[in-house]
Parts: sequence; C-alpha cells; structure tokens
Amino acid sequence: MTELQIRNVRFKNPVLTASGTFGYGLECPDLFDVAQLGGVVTKSISRKPRDGNPPQRIAETSSGGMLNSIGLANVGVDVFLDQKLPALLQRGATVIVNIAASSVEEYCYVLERCESHEGIAGYEINVSCPNVKDGGLSFGTNCPAVAQITRELRRRTDRFLAMKLTPNVTSIGEFARACEAEGADAVSCVNTFLGMDIDIRTRRPKIATITGGYSGPAILPMALAKVHEVRKAVKIPIIGIGGIMTAEDALKFLVVGASLVQLGTVLFVDPMAATTVVKGIEDYMTENGFKAINDLIGSLDVTMQPSLVAAGWS
Ligand SMILES: Cc1cc2nc3c(=O)[nH]c(=O)nc-3n(C[C@H](O)[C@H](O)[C@H](O)COP(=O)(O)O)c2cc1C
Repeated sequence: MTELQIRNVRFKNPVLTASGTFGYGLECPDLFDVAQLGGVVTKSISRKPRDGNPPQRIAETSSGGMLNSIGLANVGVDVFLDQKLPALLQRGATVIVNIAASSVEEYCYVLERCESHEGIAGYEINVSCPNVKDGGLSFGTNCPAVAQITRELRRRTDRFLAMKLTPNVTSIGEFARACEAEGADAVSCVNTFLGMDIDIRTRRPKIATITGGYSGPAILPMALAKVHEVRKAVKIPIIGIGGIMTAEDALKFLVVGASLVQLGTVLFVDPMAATTVVKGIEDYMTENGFKAINDLIGSLDVTMQPSLVAAGWS
C-alpha cells in the first residue's frame, strides 16, 4: 500500500532516516530492523575521513529545536565501502549514500568509488551543509554550482540521484529547477536552517562554531513551506525533511507534495520513531480510503472552504 518506485529504486514505504542522525545505520541493531524502512540515508561520506568541528557541537534550544555543527565528521569513502556498507546491505537495508565534498572533483571521486560497489540504491548529494568552511553552503547557495554538480554526477551514474537543498536561500524553487534540468531524480528539502543560540550566563555561543544548523520540530512549518514552493517549481519527486516527529507530521509533507520523507532529530529523542511513523501513515491511509501512496501525495486542497464561498468570500 505504501510502496513506491523512483527510477530504479523500490521504496517499501516513504519513511527514510535523515543523513547524520542515524550514523551508518548500524549503531542500534537490536532496536531497529533497517529492512523495514523505506531506506537508510547514510551520514555524509567524503573522500578522506573527517574529524569534524571542535566541541561543543550540539545544543538543544529552548525553542524546540537542536543546533548542530558536527562539520561532516565521517569515516571516509574507503572505510565506508569496506566496512559499513557490507554490514548495512547484509541487514537488507535500501541504502542511499549521502555524499559531501569541497569540490566538484571530490563529489565525482566519491560517487565513482561507490559506483564500483553493488547494492547501493542511489545517492543523496549534500550541497547544503551550513557547518563547513570549505564547500557546504557556498555550493548550496550558488545555483550554477548546484547545476554543475548535478550535471557531472548525472553523467556518472544511472542510479537514483537526489540533490539535498539548503533552505538558506531566497528562492529554493530556482535551485530545484536547476537540479531537475540537469537530470536529478529527486530533490531533498530541506537541510538545516542557519541558527544560533547563546548561553546568557557566560554570554558565549552555545556551539563552538558560533552558528550552526537548526533542526527539529521548530522548523517544520518553514520546511513545509519550502516543500510547497519546490512542488510548484518542479515535477520530479521531493523528499520532505524538517522537524518530523510523528506520523501526522510526515503526512503533512506527503499531502503538500513530498513522495518520501526523512526523519532526523526525532531519532535522538525516540530511535523507534520511524516504525511508529510508518504504521501511522498506513493507518491514516486505511481510515481515509487511500489505496496507494501516490493518491495521497500532493493531495493538498487549497480551495476556499465551501461555507466561505457561500458567504461571498470567493
Ligand atoms: C546532528 C546532525 C547531523 C547532521 N548531519 C548531516 C549530514 O552529515 N549530511 C546531511 O546531508 N545532513 C545532515 N544533517 C541534516 C539532517 O539530515 C536533516 O536534513 C535536518 O536535521 C532536518 O531534519 P530534522 O528536523 O528532522 O532533523 C544533520 C542533522 C543533525 C541534527
């Protein structure tokens, strides 16, 4: 009922884990059967291992969100392919490898290394991390650069290719259009919002990089608005991300036009959330007579309520 296909990938259901919030999908084996998820999006993988930014790298904010500046700490593509990927595949996961890089060449290098390995369903390209000095936002906020990266990677793979967009731009629809024009299969909306928090006892920033990526329930309305904007701009599938805590939250993204959703910050609060969200979506579909997920996707009704029309507000 909830399965759908994009390019060559059959997603069992629309619920995936968001990059950086579920490690390499191997960290909590007893808690979670990764084969039951729509897919696992890995931590961003770069060419060389990265230590990331200095601590403090995470802070919870009073506004119902979380600020992070992990800085793309990861094991590097060689260790990932040799050790992490086989273990993840053995568990039956649909694996989407998230790639981060500081140059177009590095994106291509990491993708080409992955191409020689069986079993990877596709890629999500992180052009939008706000927490790295080189690359990161400077790519994500530069539309020609995003277009070029998409073009170069598309030429190198027939696998599923999603571009992960930053919300920290004036017109996210323009970026999505560039990705669509260059052959991306999907766009992931959104990465974290640029944020800051201050400890007033010390009058110091709560995280060492001063500003960082803001995620969690507080960003949901902003993320939904971005997905709505992108839905109007492109025809390719959207992966909705941002502040999803419950099945109801996930359903909002599907209704506004996302085909898949990713759960991020919620996994720190409730590692079992994905299972609950999958079940909640299925229950909703049954209760509301939806036979296929595609009927639910983009079913947003923006017409005026009949009672208001009758009252002359049309
Ligand atoms: C601790 C942390 C680490 C993250 N690391 C990555 C990453 O390596 N690559 C990436 O593309 N996004 C990364 N993200 C962004 C998430 O994948 C997601 O886009 C964002 O958190 C918004 O979703 P959420 O509100 O459900 O958390 C990270 C987010 C958090 C909270």
